[in-house]
Amino acid sequence: MTTSHSIPIWRTYLSSPVRRQTHLEVANLLKSGRMVDGPLTERLEQTVQSAFDRHAVAVSSGMDAIELLFEAAEVRGRDVLIPANCFPSIPALADQLGARPRPVPVDPVHLAMAEHVPELAADALRPIVVWVHHAGMVAPYARRTITTLRASGHTVIEDCAYVLSGDHPADGPGTWGDMALFSYAPTKPLSGNGGAVALLRDAADAEQVSTRRSHSGQEHRWLGGDRFHRGRAITEFDAAVAYWQWHHRADTRGALHRLAATYTGLFGSSNCLALPIGRTAQDTWGRFTVDLATAAIARQARERMAKNGIATSVMFDLPWSGYSALSRAQPVENDLLELLQRTVCIPYHPTMRIPDVHRVAEFVTDALIQGGPQ
Ligand SMILES: Cc1ncc(COP(=O)(O)O)c(C=O)c1O
Repeated sequence: MTTSHSIPIWRTYLSSPVRRQTHLEVANLLKSGRMVDGPLTERLEQTVQSAFDRHAVAVSSGMDAIELLFEAAEVRGRDVLIPANCFPSIPALADQLGARPRPVPVDPVHLAMAEHVPELAADALRPIVVWVHHAGMVAPYARRTITTLRASGHTVIEDCAYVLSGDHPADGPGTWGDMALFSYAPTKPLSGNGGAVALLRDAADAEQVSTRRSHSGQEHRWLGGDRFHRGRAITEFDAAVAYWQWHHRADTRGALHRLAATYTGLFGSSNCLALPIGRTAQDTWGRFTVDLATAAIARQARERMAKNGIATSVMFDLPWSGYSALSRAQPVENDLLELLQRTVCIPYHPTMRIPDVHRVAEFVTDALIQGGPQ
């Protein structure tokens, strides 16, 4: 049995134009010694701001973006509605900031919050809804539901950590809620060393997020009762990488589009329902997730792929409310557990070769068509 994976799920890839352009800027940066709060951060913010037509604040990570957005939304004492299939750090952060995280059921096709979330929000205490576009999948009802939530006076934060934006993002995901975030961590579709950007509709909130990134020079805020634990500014190095990855994102999208078309073509030609009816590949996807019908089939198929050097993962082993640190929230439903365990991420990265897509698809198809891997 081999344990090293020759086909990873994701590989951080900086194309040669991205490397070349970043390289020149980093050389200048090292000479200037200005590591944060410089022209590269400002350029990234201005570019993202004009692309989305929202205020943009570059920060040190996706989690720091969420923290700053929670702080701007004055999260303490509020209910925070979070999809049950979410990264547990988000409910843990809400809890730490004095809010009450509440799990929301998810739709098995798009793995997004269920469409009836406005009904759940109706009896919540001044709710903040964290709408996660899971794996970069954008549910067909996402925009409509987010608009309904906002129209009822609820705050919506769109988590676009895995969303790969198109050429004209101003009407797309990230612009529907009150606030949003995109991450540039190494596992995300525009991968770098790290960093993120927060988008906001409200200028005063954006100003607050911007000024609260730094933990130095804040004496006047300390005097006013505020507190700062650490700096949350993006480094100039990360801002340079993120900018060039953003600038060349059409290349990343083109490469991923070819992989997705090959996967879907192969699944379609063997009548394999790895993508459940209604889950159509989108250029926004940062992960390719298939539904392997049952947790048992998924387990077997993953073991077999691992033996053949193909990495897979489930996004989450448990709903976040299943972890002891967060279990105050609510009991875990069995059908959700089964959904998580049969939902498998398969390799999908810009440098993946088409013959490797065929190899992976064969394992998936065998698992589903022939009643399990041979
Ligand atoms: C849905 C989601 N939101 C936010 C984050 C946090 O992003 P970062 O790694 O940049 O802190 C992650 C991290 O994987 C994530 O999966």
